[in-house]
Amino acid sequence: RKNLIIYHLIPFIMLLLLHVLMLSLLSSGSARVQDFEGECGQFFANKKPPTRFAGAQYKQICQMQNYVYYYATFYDTDKRIPLYSAYKFKEIKNCTRLNNWYIEPQLDDDNGSPNMQFENEKIQGLGVHQALDEDYRNSGYDRGHLAPVFQAQSQSCADATFTLTNAAPQNPSFNRGQWRILERNITIFLQSECKLYTVYIVTGVVPGTKNISDRVKVPSHFWTAFCCLDNNKKCQISRGFIGVNENITPKNETVKDLEKELETLYKVKSFKLFDNSTEPPAKKKKSKK
Ligand SMILES: *[C@@H]1O[C@H](CO)[C@@H](O)[C@H](O)[C@H]1NC(C)=O
Ligand SMILES: *[C@@H]1O[C@H](CO)[C@@H](O)[C@H](O)[C@H]1NC(C)=O
Ligand SMILES: *[C@@H]1O[C@H](CO)[C@@H](O)[C@H](O)[C@H]1NC(C)=O
Ligand SMILES: *[C@@H]1O[C@H](CO)[C@@H](O)[C@H](O)[C@H]1NC(C)=O
Ligand SMILES: *[C@@H]1O[C@H](CO)[C@@H](O)[C@H](O)[C@H]1NC(C)=O
Repeated sequence: RKNLIIYHLIPFIMLLLLHVLMLSLLSSGSARVQDFEGECGQFFANKKPPTRFAGAQYKQICQMQNYVYYYATFYDTDKRIPLYSAYKFKEIKNCTRLNNWYIEPQLDDDNGSPNMQFENEKIQGLGVHQALDEDYRNSGYDRGHLAPVFQAQSQSCADATFTLTNAAPQNPSFNRGQWRILERNITIFLQSECKLYTVYIVTGVVPGTKNISDRVKVPSHFWTAFCCLDNNKKCQISRGFIGVNENITPKNETVKDLEKELETLYKVKSFKLFDNSTEPPAKKKKSKK
């Protein structure tokens, strides 16, 4: 009779084990901060994200507000700055700026909201894996937007750019000077020259050696690049820009040259910004007669 009871319990025990297994898998990170392709491939040319570095400190954030995705951010939770944000552009919308900054609950708290939120004490471990308001206060640096307000495609999208996972410490005179001018130049160019294409933009930083509040790395460089994709999945018009984190006019170059420069700065073998992969496969060597 005892055996019989155990026999009947087996399915329940197995279910329990399965449950524990599932929970331990889930608690290793929420799906939304793990998976660009699954959740927000729409923000990348041909749905292929730029190069992602390996390492547990890197998180793929599909930036969400009120359950709508607005752009994508590749974030470094050790340096507490993004490496890049990727988004689409159509036209200048004249959006206004928000006064406050959101944070990303799920970077610190697996049970946190999937939406970006303002800092609040309900979020467990807040700040362990990301920058907070107080890191920037009196730091002497601006919160430099990666995905910027000026290129946002709706007011709610502009609001969603005000999240600290989309910002890095930027020299204030650069942010309000040459970088701002460049942002405007590029946007006006895209609005007039890329009407017929789908415009993909990636904006990023190169981490430097300095930090603020002993927690958040200050970038040595800011960079941005665009790809105006045609119906054949090719970047018909593209350009890359990079500048040191000082108020100096950034360099204007080809995407290829920017990629080369980023390979050197990031000390990696390959760094790709856009997928242009539908180029015909390399021709096979002429078959011998
Ligand atoms: C944005 O403002 C400019 C200049 O005031 C105006 O020409 C343009 O039509 C506005 N665009 C939109 C989408 O409202
Ligand atoms: C912006 O465009 C103007 C005129 O085309 C050019 O003179 C200037 O150097 C550009 N500035 C930047 C930061 O690209
Ligand atoms: C960058 O350089 C290209 C090629 O010289 C030029 O057509 C374009 O207007 C420049 N873009 C900006 C934003 O300065
Ligand atoms: C931040 O910078 C200070 C001053 O240069 C340095 O002493 C400290 O080690 C740095 N902290 C981190 C976490 O890099
Ligand atoms: C994509 O391919 C086209 C056609 O081969 C080429 O002209 C363009 O420079 C490429 N763009 C990028 C960003 O690599």
